[in-house]
Amino acid sequence: MDSTQWDERYSTSELIWTGQANQFVERHLADLAPGTAIDLGAGEGRNAVWLAQRGWSVTAVDFSQVGLDKALRLAAEHDVTITVERGDATTWSPPGSVDLVVLSYLQLPQAQQRIVVEHAASWLAPGGTVFVIAHDRSNVTDGYGGPPSADVCYTVSDTVDALAGLDVTTAEIAERRVDTPDGVRVALDTLVIARRPT
Ligand SMILES: C[S@@+](CC[C@H](N)C(=O)[O-])C[C@H]1O[C@@H](n2cnc3c(N)ncnc32)[C@H](O)[C@@H]1O
Repeated sequence: MDSTQWDERYSTSELIWTGQANQFVERHLADLAPGTAIDLGAGEGRNAVWLAQRGWSVTAVDFSQVGLDKALRLAAEHDVTITVERGDATTWSPPGSVDLVVLSYLQLPQAQQRIVVEHAASWLAPGGTVFVIAHDRSNVTDGYGGPPSADVCYTVSDTVDALAGLDVTTAEIAERRVDTPDGVRVALDTLVIARRPT
């Protein structure tokens, strides 16, 4: 989907995703000392706002201005400040190094996935963390929801390969429980977390 399609998708007054941070973001980043963070492909800003609530100085980047406007609204509702920047995740870069980059369901075609993960790694200050959560390719056949196209889904091994030089602390297919009208279903996510050595 291009930015116009995402703008259209976000053009409802309600959030199309939840306002609550992703469960793996909450689980794995809660104890990280706050610093500067980039939420790349931030959408309506649920993860950016959660980080800001914990003292992070967050820049939310997305190519959908409509999504970013909703992120600013969500931040205001939670009495926190975030910075938003409209940009393409495959070409945007921050002015300096950062302590955390979050990629949360930034489902790009495979060749672009490698570019964004490599870029994210290159922005990290020593000791900085890159956090990747995305629909896993196995989800297409074995999991619930998510994109039907395997090309825009991630794999743990490709993601780890793109993080050469970093210390990988988590690399797994994570099971995400989803409440549906038909009961609890399981979605399969690529979850990779890595740190730049100090
Ligand atoms: C599935 S949503 C996830 C939003 C958010 N990260 C979350 O977890 O709630 C994917 C987001 O990526 C953005 N996106 C997709 N391709 C992009 C690109 N090339 N550059 C910047 N943003 C992009 C979309 O606009 C959308 O907001």
